[in-house]
Amino acid sequence: MTERTFSILKPDATRRNITGKINAVIEGAGLRIVGQRRIRLTEAQAKTFYEVHKERPFYGELVSQMTAEPVVVQVLEGDNAVAKYREVMGATNPEQAAEGTIRKLFALSIGENSVHGSDSLDNAKLEIAQFFTDADIPG
Ligand code: CMP
Repeated sequence: MTERTFSILKPDATRRNITGKINAVIEGAGLRIVGQRRIRLTEAQAKTFYEVHKERPFYGELVSQMTAEPVVVQVLEGDNAVAKYREVMGATNPEQAAEGTIRKLFALSIGENSVHGSDSLDNAKLEIAQFFTDADIPG
């Protein structure tokens, strides 16, 4: 089934000028980048986006890292896009990520792990709606 998922290329990726390399892996896996914008997340946006993690010990550092430098927000489309992108990203902790995955190839640490991807179709819809309107995604 054709789906859309939400992706963020994180500050460690924009800082190292590797967004094109990451996009090549995404496109090589058959996912189409149908929406893309480079932005600086506000603290309010980052806090809302990561609200599910607000009780976790890494929440403060996560919000400050995600707001310190630009990110690229994306909408990816393809067959089973949510699960496919999670496979392409690899495990959250790059030490556990499979060969060939974005995090194995590029991530620096569990915090600076280069990419975010939605964990379910419901969350994908909510996350996309935080950053994109239908008009941003031409058919
Ligand atoms: P992401 O998919 O963006 O969702 C939450 C982020 O928190 C996660 O990727 C990691 O980059 C970050 N994070 C930092 N420390 C941890 C941790 N110990 N466990 C899980 N996620 C962490």
